[in-house]
Amino acid sequence: MKFFVDTAEIDAIAELNALGMVDGVTTNPSLIAKSGRDIMEVTREICDMVSGPVSAEVVALDAETMIKEGRKLTEIAENIAVKVPLTWDGLQACKTLSDEGKMVNVTLCFSANQALLAAKAGATFISPFIGRLDDINIDGLDLIADIREIYDNYGFETEILAASIRTVNHMSECAKIGADVATAPPAVIKSMANHVLTDKGLAGFVKDIEKAGITIL
Ligand code: E4P
Repeated sequence: MKFFVDTAEIDAIAELNALGMVDGVTTNPSLIAKSGRDIMEVTREICDMVSGPVSAEVVALDAETMIKEGRKLTEIAENIAVKVPLTWDGLQACKTLSDEGKMVNVTLCFSANQALLAAKAGATFISPFIGRLDDINIDGLDLIADIREIYDNYGFETEILAASIRTVNHMSECAKIGADVATAPPAVIKSMANHVLTDKGLAGFVKDIEKAGITIL
């Protein structure tokens, strides 16, 4: 499973990138607003650092303007994936931009039918939102499994980009289901390293190292 980082914070991307943990980056208007940076400028900086797909989202709601915005965003770098919302206009923009050879990430997906439409429209990535479904008492992981089954039934090449990930459990479950990509905030990715028994085991070793005065260097 590929790891995308769900942030527009340059320092956080750089830290994970140095460890080879970054296969791509996803941003959205809320993350850009949180960064306080200009969308074109911060996106360019991310693309300079990361060679994998970098999703940058359009802000228009009509297909014609989304297409213009998508073309402008793809001028930033070759690895831009234009992010469009899963609306009828978004699907039209997806079809046009993907026919032009641009990567398109269709976002705000909350149903298997929406994912089916995105694949038919030529999406490179479909972004089902796990956490926001969990928030309304619908199991978001079930949606990932449904889309996996449907895409495999028909050989759709659209990659399942599990999004709105809030917990480390989401990460391992997505990997078990077979999501192609998971995009998560930096804190969630770093938390995957944590285990209470690792901490407990290390504390025991440290105690014995001090007691026995073990040194290596
Ligand atoms: C990424 O592509 C999505 O925009 C993001 O994962 C949404 O996450 P949220 O539901 O935590 O805002």
